[in-house]
Amino acid sequence: FQRGEVDVQEKIKELMRQMTIEEKVALTIGQDFWSTNAIARLGIPSINLNDGPHGVRKPISGTDAGIGNSLPATCFPSASAVASSFDVNLMQEMGEALGEESRRLGVDVLLGPGLNIKRTPVCGRNFEYFSEDPVLAGEMATAEVRGIQSRGVGTSVKHFACNNQEYERMSINVEVDERTLREIYLAGFERVVKAAKPWTVMASYNKVNGDYATENEVLLQRILKGEWEFDGVVVSDWGAVNDKDKALAAGMDLEMPGGRPQPEIVALFENGHIPMSALDAAAERVLLMVEKAAAQREEHDFTTASAADVGQKAHTLARRVAGESIVLLKNEENLLPLTSETVQSVAVLGRFAKQPRFQGAGSSQIVPTEVDIPLEELVALADGKMTFEYADGYVDSETIDEAALREAVDLAKKSQAAVIFAGLPDHYESEGYDRKHMSTPPAHNRLIEEVCRVQRNTVVVLMNGSSIVMPWVDAPKAIVEAWLGGQAIGGAIADVLLGRVNPSGKLAETFPVRYEDTPAYLNYPGELGTVRYGEGLFVGYRYYDAKGVRPLFPFGHGLSYTTFAYTKLALSRETMTDVDELEVSVSVRNTGERHGKEAVQVYVRDVESRLVRPVKELKAFGKVELAPGEERTITFTLRDRDFAYFDPAIHDWRIDSGKFEILVGPSSALLPLKATIVLESTKVIPPVFHKMSLVKDFLAHPVAMEAVSAMLPEWMRMNAGADAGDLSFMEAMMMELPLKKAIAFTGGQITEEMLEALISRVNQAG
Ligand code: BGC
Repeated sequence: FQRGEVDVQEKIKELMRQMTIEEKVALTIGQDFWSTNAIARLGIPSINLNDGPHGVRKPISGTDAGIGNSLPATCFPSASAVASSFDVNLMQEMGEALGEESRRLGVDVLLGPGLNIKRTPVCGRNFEYFSEDPVLAGEMATAEVRGIQSRGVGTSVKHFACNNQEYERMSINVEVDERTLREIYLAGFERVVKAAKPWTVMASYNKVNGDYATENEVLLQRILKGEWEFDGVVVSDWGAVNDKDKALAAGMDLEMPGGRPQPEIVALFENGHIPMSALDAAAERVLLMVEKAAAQREEHDFTTASAADVGQKAHTLARRVAGESIVLLKNEENLLPLTSETVQSVAVLGRFAKQPRFQGAGSSQIVPTEVDIPLEELVALADGKMTFEYADGYVDSETIDEAALREAVDLAKKSQAAVIFAGLPDHYESEGYDRKHMSTPPAHNRLIEEVCRVQRNTVVVLMNGSSIVMPWVDAPKAIVEAWLGGQAIGGAIADVLLGRVNPSGKLAETFPVRYEDTPAYLNYPGELGTVRYGEGLFVGYRYYDAKGVRPLFPFGHGLSYTTFAYTKLALSRETMTDVDELEVSVSVRNTGERHGKEAVQVYVRDVESRLVRPVKELKAFGKVELAPGEERTITFTLRDRDFAYFDPAIHDWRIDSGKFEILVGPSSALLPLKATIVLESTKVIPPVFHKMSLVKDFLAHPVAMEAVSAMLPEWMRMNAGADAGDLSFMEAMMMELPLKKAIAFTGGQITEEMLEALISRVNQAG
């Protein structure tokens, strides 16, 4: 607040006192598709909430969804691209530009970022999400929110929660265990809510463990508003409220879109169906946001700069972000970058070179201010030193056009190198439905195969919003993942191919060899209205690690035109407790001949864990820029949560004392440096024993061990008979028995009372 915090609180209280039930209800439901209800009598304005997340989509009209019919705005790279930059500063800068553009177009709350976890690669909306990893997703979202909100524009982190597939997204019930929910699906939201205080959180369409997210008391009231102390507004995804009274009671504040008759809602209060306190709570939160937004409008005025200047600046930023997000997947014999010393004639093949795919379909679809054409950008950047000849290669993605194919192959043959533009066509991935498979279209595959047969120097440039399989992976020398890179992707591709930009992106999601290898394969898309997250914690690289399944390209992978050496991993201490911080520093040196950037990744591995844990988990990352020969030391800070897991038995985070390994390197599959820290937890959580606790659990506890081992010989003797020889099998069997079985198996020598006394002694000892 720019005005005094106290003044605003007072004003809100006063307005709440003056409002009628009708007016309070009006505040909790939109006025039309994109704005809140104004209450003119009390001087409460209406504010606008618009998509989001990688550009501003301000529909011309307020009364429809307006997809494809919005004001021109800069289309930045989508989330799967930007996450690959592994660069939170860049993300924040993009957020600032989005905030300024929102302000200029009259948007008060930009509906994004989306940070759902990429549970399955075929989720149609993966292009709008950051990663399969909650730390990377949460950090990126935090940076984007900070950037946007620094310009006085609110954000809506979405879609809360477990909207990890588009298949039946409005009705599917996600069955997910508590630990997986906390560690994988909520962790990113928790990070951004606590660190960046988004103005709103968007409740998703789906059900989570039986209740719609919009009616989910556990998610909204208990976790989000209670535990995480979220003080903003919960806004529904568009049309996600099914039952207004249940939603309000669960902590759903603002229902969107609006426009539905309100008398019936008012009646719900008048006949006591919903407690007035629920309405008051929701109306007050919305009111606070509206007041905040109105104050920010005055504070942040970006309408004075010339639209052309601003547009150019944003386009240049979009090109830089796209360039930093491009991932060089493969580069045999250093084919890239193409330079005029080695290559003078290049065949540019594939329609995407002229009609780039730069964004995904659905609510995030921007009407761009301009679009860079890759072919034209290559020509412009080469400045006459190379020739670029073009052939379509394919006309329609599904059918092979032999003439077009032949023309492309002939052109590739007579050129010194070929660049093929391929990927996923628009209809392959979109909001609203899932992909059917992970393949690129037949016409693209064929073009790659045929061209590689005649031209050794082939580069494949991919335009897709989510991971794909590549049966042709060995054929081209170089593969460049350009993602759905926004309106300036054409320029960014030219920058990377011709070496103006040294690629530094890393995969924020695993690329598998086969769709069948993916973690959720057996538990997707669900049936009879329910999808069970049966793979639990083992999502993304956590799965490939645990199963030893080799991916095509691992999480965190990405090459550069230079090389980096990692040395001198140092920890600030050898032992720590959970209230200490651990500084991890590492030196990275540019050992090649080009200026470059490197995304350094820090993973933590719990060496001996009480509950099953992933082999390792990303806990920190950072990007460093180095001139040839330059070395820098980067320092990361790890805290308690970086070592903790969520223990469903106590419904809380927990750290077990013991050894942890800190692994550092350039990719999840390449971690050359390792150091060990011994952690001593200060929070001792005593186990609670009962009669059905297992013998092995008693034996693992110091006090219980003594008491229980005293009774074991007798118990064993009774079971094994007098002359039983080797009793080691019996010992092993007994470990799995509940203590209570001692009564039955000792013929009553061990009694109920004896066990009760023992258990109470052990539990008291803690
Ligand atoms: C999408 C949201 C979007 C909203 C408004 C919904 O269908 O799921 O992400 O913000 O529409 O367009």
